[in-house]
Amino acid sequence: MLAMNYRGPFRVRADHNKPDPEILHPNDAIIRVTRSCICGSDLHLYHGLVPDTRVGMTFGHEFTGIVEEIGSGVQNLKVGDHVMVPFNIACGVCPFCKQELYGNCHESNPEATAVGGIFGYSHTAGGYDGGQAQYVRVPYADVGPMVIPPDMDLDDAVLLTDVVPTGYQAAEMGGIKPGDTVVVFGAGPIGIMAAKCSWLFGAGRVIIIDQLDYRLEFARTYAQCEAYNFKELGDPVLFLKRTTDFFGADVCIDAVGCEAAGSSMQTLTGRKMMLQAGSATALHWAINSVKKGGVVSIVGVYGPTGNLIPIGNVVNKGLTIRANQASVKRLMPKLIEHVQAGRLNPKEIITHRIPLEEVSEAYHIFSTKLDNCIKPILIPS
Ligand SMILES: NC(=O)c1ccc[n+]([C@@H]2O[C@H](COP(=O)([O-])OP(=O)(O)OC[C@H]3O[C@@H](n4cnc5c(N)ncnc54)[C@H](O)[C@@H]3O)[C@@H](O)[C@H]2O)c1
Ligand SMILES: [Zn+2]
Ligand SMILES: [Zn+2]
Repeated sequence: MLAMNYRGPFRVRADHNKPDPEILHPNDAIIRVTRSCICGSDLHLYHGLVPDTRVGMTFGHEFTGIVEEIGSGVQNLKVGDHVMVPFNIACGVCPFCKQELYGNCHESNPEATAVGGIFGYSHTAGGYDGGQAQYVRVPYADVGPMVIPPDMDLDDAVLLTDVVPTGYQAAEMGGIKPGDTVVVFGAGPIGIMAAKCSWLFGAGRVIIIDQLDYRLEFARTYAQCEAYNFKELGDPVLFLKRTTDFFGADVCIDAVGCEAAGSSMQTLTGRKMMLQAGSATALHWAINSVKKGGVVSIVGVYGPTGNLIPIGNVVNKGLTIRANQASVKRLMPKLIEHVQAGRLNPKEIITHRIPLEEVSEAYHIFSTKLDNCIKPILIPS
């Protein structure tokens, strides 16, 4: 089959000869992919920042597809169903899945103590091949995949496998109360969706911070929020204090993660010298610009080792820190309703539709933020 193939940092290619996936367990299904996305999380892999990312691996954790084959134990799916597949691989029955912590499944990635299995996300996340391919093997097929409602656009459906639930959960973990001021760091697909979803929880003011004007411009219209370029703010923490009567924001969301720009010291120690698990600049800004007693919600991804963060400020300000991989299966039913009611229009963030054959070019465009790219999707031939 045709599949994306990782060759090493900054090198991916379309592989025309990858063996088709096979049913390996009675609970597996094989899905013929109809849409897949490239995510900011894939960029951490592409840039060589995620441990144990093996050459030959196929990335892709956001995809829809048609069920091609099912194992003998699968009961909830039938051949021909068109499904959206959560990025988390979850068994559905372990103590963590039972609490709807589907991103922290204990069975799908037994070698790790933190993250559960994720499609196409290195051997740190279970070593499963992903959906930037013609076909993908989906384990625990009765648990994750959900049949796409007949009236739903495929482009909306594919964004329900990660971007929408992650943005929504970022806002949800913020515990936003009516009238709250929410600051979102990062105006990528996740930050834009977090800003949009903050209104659903009753925010009174939403501010988004990035360094890319085209994304800020998009966020202003799409998420109806204030948008500022941190390169023009001087000290973003001071700016945010000033604009909140020196109290600070009620909720700060880190939708940037380990590749944050804005501090040469963080970039040097976190990205160039790899002395910490990425650069934690956005997290510093979030902790330092939230008010005392406020909430910092982290969905930006960090590596499995450690980061230098201002823990003293967390303690002395009495902050609540909430963080996780999104629990997609838990949120999907509610988010389908939001999309069907028109309160969320995910597909509007898609800027690029690229044939799977051109996956290498697609990564380059998204990684270097060329051509005003916000969200690229790959279409298998
Ligand atoms: N927790 C989850 O379940 C989950 C799911 C999906 C993505 N993610 C993570 O969310 C993060 C964002 O994903 P994305 O797809 O939007 O990525 P993206 O790379 O498209 O966007 C990141 C944005 O952050 C901006 N940025 C860089 N430094 C900044 C700073 N100091 N302050 C403010 N903005 C800054 C960049 O200019 C860019 O626009 C990534 O770390 C990704 O891995 C987490
Ligand atoms: Zn993703
Ligand atoms: Zn589980």
